[in-house]
Amino acid sequence: MKGYFVFNFGCQMNEADAERYAGQLEELGYSACADHRDADIIVLNTCCVRESAEKRILGKLGEVLGLKKTKPELLLCLTGCLAQKEGERLQKRFPRLDLVLGTAYVSQFKKILSDYLADRRRSAYLDIAGGDADEFAGAKVRQSAYSAWVPIMYGCNNFCTYCIVPYVRGRERSRSEEAIIAELTAAAAAGYKEVTLLGQNVDSYGKDRGEKEAFARLLRRADEAGLERLRFMTSHPRDMTEAVIEAVAESKHICRHFHLPCQAGNNEILRRMNRGYTRERYLELVTSIRKHIPEAAITTDIIVGFPGEDEAAFDDTLSLVREVAFDSAFTFIYSPRGGTPAAVMPGQVPAEIKKERLQKLMDVQNAVSLAKNKALVGQVLAVMADGPSKQPGIYSGRTEGGKLVLWPALRPYRPGETVQVAVTEAQTWQVKGQEVAR
Ligand code: 5AD
Ligand code: SF4
Repeated sequence: MKGYFVFNFGCQMNEADAERYAGQLEELGYSACADHRDADIIVLNTCCVRESAEKRILGKLGEVLGLKKTKPELLLCLTGCLAQKEGERLQKRFPRLDLVLGTAYVSQFKKILSDYLADRRRSAYLDIAGGDADEFAGAKVRQSAYSAWVPIMYGCNNFCTYCIVPYVRGRERSRSEEAIIAELTAAAAAGYKEVTLLGQNVDSYGKDRGEKEAFARLLRRADEAGLERLRFMTSHPRDMTEAVIEAVAESKHICRHFHLPCQAGNNEILRRMNRGYTRERYLELVTSIRKHIPEAAITTDIIVGFPGEDEAAFDDTLSLVREVAFDSAFTFIYSPRGGTPAAVMPGQVPAEIKKERLQKLMDVQNAVSLAKNKALVGQVLAVMADGPSKQPGIYSGRTEGGKLVLWPALRPYRPGETVQVAVTEAQTWQVKGQEVAR
């Protein structure tokens, strides 16, 4: 039997795509290899959101191209966002790279690969509008046995000035509500406990078909699909509505967790980022979430060192972080992406200053996270068991708000099982506790 290995880089949407590459490979009779060096075909599913991702991927590409020296029959496919952006150039530069697929060709992989096996003509499929009707459909090999990704839309229309995503994933295309609900129902029937609905901007769901408030409606239907936990990401502060917050508040299974990237806390920077909201509007949304759902977890993404960010503007980001008291934040150093407006804006911030700001921001957020976690000591949390942690004998799982919880395993757990854990110790990134009887 022939073997495959898929390397995945980047966001959850890429993970969902990687599961579809694996699914199609298995339909063609390949089986998963534990070690990529044993594979007959390797897929590198790539990301280009920041330069650091690109560098890591190019290193990995070099390594797998090297494998072909001793194993010339090995087949190499480059897919995903970096393939979309740099595929043509890379295929010219590396004659041993067999196939290059842009982001619109995931569902056509099986056919493309079969054609290649028949004629061995190296090709690049990079038409960004090359997708078909339900480009999310088809076989999947899910990585988790209890938690599934379900994309609800592809692409992005926002054109934040720093972001490469709209260029490499194309315009927004929403999947039909029927197809999504069918996938949720099937996942529940197959034993999945949790589904995360994915989109670059889930609040835009349905807008490409002229629908209004379609995401709030989708959430209400999804709540009935038979899953224990439903998650969704990413929300956009410009597009999130009261109707979405109410749908979450009134649901039984939708996690009370909003991943709502603010990106910055200064209005001039937000304007230059083309985010379409102000600091005041962002704070209003937070207030509204907490009014409807006082216990809601709110997490965010923040970029430091965007062009034009001076000390005063950066202080506004720090003060926003303190004011909102996010449960956690993903923090990034601004990375200029060729072809995006911000890459050529005046006022680029020196690398040293960007690093310092990242550290300051992380210090502030870490203090907030630790304080929030300390407040949990003594409480009993419902934790969805994920798997053994790296420490022997310690199991790990997540709360509804996405918080990582560790506890000594008293018995074997089924992944996806809900365990009650009394919190005994708080750390910045996680809490520790003991299992208690229900
Ligand atoms: N530089 C740094 N961070 C970026 N992000 C997107 N583009 C860039 C960039 N050019 C961050 C944003 C986004 C997250 C997924 O990645 O914060 O929300
Ligand atoms: Fe990038 Fe903005 Fe789209 Fe998010 S919403 S992917 S930040 S352009």
